[in-house]
Amino acid sequence: MRMLQALRSGALLAQSVLGAVTGHSRQANTTTRVGPSLDRWPSGLHLAVDYYPSQWPESMWEPDMARMRDANISYVRINEFDWALLEPSEGQYNFTLLDRTLELCGKYGLKAIVGTPTATPPNWLTEKYDTDFVDVTNATLQFGSRRHYSFSSYDYRRLSRGITTKLAERYGANANVVAWQLDNEFGCHTTTVSYDHNAIKRFRAWLETKYGTIENLNARQGRVFWSSQYAGFEAVQPPFLEVYTTNEAHTLDWYTFSSDMVIEFAREQADILRRHAPGQAITHNFMMLFTEFDHHKFAREVGIDLATFDQYALAGVFAFDWLTEDEMAGSLRQGLPDYQAMHDALYRGVSGAAYGRNAGPFGVMEMEPGVLNWNQYRVSPLDGMVRLWTHELFAASGDLVNYFRWRQAPFAQEQTLSALFTSDNVEDQGYVEQQIFANEDLPLLRAEINNAQTEQQQQQADVALVFDYTSNWVWSIEPYSGSWDPKSASYKDVALKYTDLVYTFYSSLRRLGLSVDIIDPYQSLAGYKMIVVPSLPIVPAAFDAALASYGTAGPVVFGPHTGSKSADFATVAGLNPGLNSTLSRRLPMRVTRVETPPAFARSGVEYGGARYNITAREEWIECERRAGTDNEKHTSSNATITYTSRHRGPEGSKPAACARDGLHYLAFNPPADLLVAYLGDLAVGAGIRDLAGRGADKANDLGRFVRLLRRGNLLWALNYGVEAAAVPEVKGGTVIIGGKEKSGQIPGAGVVVWKLAG
Ligand SMILES: *[C@@H]1O[C@H](CO)[C@@H](O)[C@H](O)[C@H]1NC(C)=O
Ligand SMILES: *[C@@H]1O[C@H](CO)[C@@H](O)[C@H](O)[C@H]1NC(C)=O
Ligand SMILES: *[C@@H]1O[C@H](CO)[C@@H](O)[C@H](O)[C@H]1NC(C)=O
Ligand SMILES: *[C@@H]1O[C@H](CO)[C@@H](O)[C@H](O)[C@H]1NC(C)=O
Ligand SMILES: *[C@@H]1O[C@H](CO)[C@@H](O)[C@H](O)[C@H]1NC(C)=O
Ligand SMILES: *[C@@H]1O[C@H](CO)[C@@H](O)[C@H](O)[C@H]1NC(C)=O
Ligand SMILES: *[C@@H]1O[C@H](CO)[C@@H](O)[C@H](O)[C@H]1NC(C)=O
Repeated sequence: MRMLQALRSGALLAQSVLGAVTGHSRQANTTTRVGPSLDRWPSGLHLAVDYYPSQWPESMWEPDMARMRDANISYVRINEFDWALLEPSEGQYNFTLLDRTLELCGKYGLKAIVGTPTATPPNWLTEKYDTDFVDVTNATLQFGSRRHYSFSSYDYRRLSRGITTKLAERYGANANVVAWQLDNEFGCHTTTVSYDHNAIKRFRAWLETKYGTIENLNARQGRVFWSSQYAGFEAVQPPFLEVYTTNEAHTLDWYTFSSDMVIEFAREQADILRRHAPGQAITHNFMMLFTEFDHHKFAREVGIDLATFDQYALAGVFAFDWLTEDEMAGSLRQGLPDYQAMHDALYRGVSGAAYGRNAGPFGVMEMEPGVLNWNQYRVSPLDGMVRLWTHELFAASGDLVNYFRWRQAPFAQEQTLSALFTSDNVEDQGYVEQQIFANEDLPLLRAEINNAQTEQQQQQADVALVFDYTSNWVWSIEPYSGSWDPKSASYKDVALKYTDLVYTFYSSLRRLGLSVDIIDPYQSLAGYKMIVVPSLPIVPAAFDAALASYGTAGPVVFGPHTGSKSADFATVAGLNPGLNSTLSRRLPMRVTRVETPPAFARSGVEYGGARYNITAREEWIECERRAGTDNEKHTSSNATITYTSRHRGPEGSKPAACARDGLHYLAFNPPADLLVAYLGDLAVGAGIRDLAGRGADKANDLGRFVRLLRRGNLLWALNYGVEAAAVPEVKGGTVIIGGKEKSGQIPGAGVVVWKLAG
């Protein structure tokens, strides 16, 4: 049964790999591979913890594991940094520690998530082999910390396959192993893009596969400009250490290539694990707001069974430089109210991509239980937040909350990072809250979230937000603002980033109490009641076709810079949105200029009789196209929002958004309040209700701190604020958790869960 299903989904993977091949892809290995399977990952609400036996005396191991079992922990992540212990010198293996750890896991009813240890190559390896990571200044980074390797190194690929094979052969049938984590936080510390000589060699071959001839590369990259034609592929360099701005198309190739190297590296490990560990799940712990490689493509091509990510909520407060001090202060000890949920939705979709669907199993592989060791400013969570974050992951249909880590490190680099226990083995606040969750909340949730889990996890949201890694690269390569920094070969001090737009759109939808899936442009739009695309400069043909078939099933809202670039990073014919696209056929408009005025210009827009301040981007648009330019009947659209910026001359005459036929283009950086109004009007027009069953419009704006999530027939309200707040009335709902305080109120850092009728 298990084998049969695994094979079935294997066939599915082969298909989705083929489907994902784009102009940028390497030749896909079309050998039938064993793909992801829901059978390998036991569904349920799992609590887990990170444990490092090598950092503690052996006498503590058994008492620790007994205590984990008693704390309702089911999984333990181990081994991800232990290469030097496993292979102390080349070809000499020592599995004593891992054998013993897994044996104890078995004894105490715990199952292990075993990391492949390739994030930390040992010293004998870096001394002997050609594996160096080289940064954008051409500095070779030294041994001693972690992630000091290049994904392109031929030696490192071979050595990584070697240690993975040894582990997979030894533990691939071990009943105490539930899953494998590939490496640790691919790309962390800006290690995706390496400028080493192996990367350059592979890049040249990658370009040759893509372009065929150097003449074709020169033509498509527009190298006639500034006489930058290459004489041959052997002359090609990555876009760095040049005098001034680098060629945009070349830079996009370089980023795409570097992303592909991560995927190839991971896939080599996954293929080995599939061979030797066919019944154990494969995952990777991705990060937050990390965009250096394409996670959806990763999921499709590596074929992970579940996606996990490392959730450090309090770092989110410093992730967006446009937040006001008041906003940051209001979220300092709780994190931003939409930052965690945005990543839950993103990784649910990333996991889905592996299965050729929109949603798959996901979880948090590292949850912050206290103060961080790595952020600019560091504070402790407000009491209650560890419990709230735990609830939130399960409410978002996740499977796993793994706390990082069991006990605070007694020495070396991460001594200042809190854990469930202090380094002298005393319960810390994170443990207290984990216990409240495990003993009081978990039994109630488990009673409701049962065998129907898979179905609940695949429940489609009302709204899809389209997120695209390539769009992020396009925005960073040409942000229309900032100043060029030759040392980092990128723009500094840019006015607006792609991820700023994504967060603002997502946050507005959540204030409206909507359920939101985050998908990539290759996932299906079918069944959604509204689609939101914060920005999509290069519109993939697949997305254009999906948009055409979606038709007028619901409103589709695009943010600025959409449809503006060809796949070769050139201006699109007829100006954006490009001619012959579904967007231009159905929404006649043109973007004629792009401006990024400073904040002191005091720009604004008007919508529905209200004015909103805007910053960072104003595109000049015309809500019309000259007849006959695109073979279609419409020639004009409606200006639904207008600019009021005084510096642009007489008010009211200049459109800031165009709409027609259910399609909307917002030509500026929309503030959340404006989006709550605009998207709320569209939601009401489309008959979409919020998660509490009310009209999803600005009259029911949840405001700054309260958020709703639904899983199956359970509805959660979470209060990300310090103060108590009102919760919406939920008709026909029975409160099963929280809400015992003042009726209709939810305390600061509090959680209320309703069971809905039917
Ligand atoms: C949690 O662990 C305690 C102690 O082992 C046990 O009594 C309880 O049933 C467990 N709760 C759940 C939800 O598993
Ligand atoms: C193997 O590892 C164990 C546990 O770390 C250690 O005690 C032992 O000395 C090692 N064996 C050898 C031969 O180095
Ligand atoms: C980078 O450093 C390597 C090794 O020192 C050298 O061979 C190469 O020419 C350097 N590249 C650039 C662009 O300076
Ligand atoms: C394709 O993948 C299979 C299984 O991982 C491997 O054995 C084979 O060598 C690969 N073929 C190519 C052409 O990369
Ligand atoms: C648009 O499509 C038509 C017919 O397919 C084609 O003749 C025309 O060249 C295309 N225009 C552009 C700008 O791509
Ligand atoms: C918009 O900016 C003006 C100053 O230009 C300020 O007085 C006003 O309060 C701002 N409005 C909002 C809603 O922030
Ligand atoms: C413009 O908006 C008006 C009023 O909502 C509507 O009647 C009209 O059909 C719209 N025109 C187009 C081209 O969408």
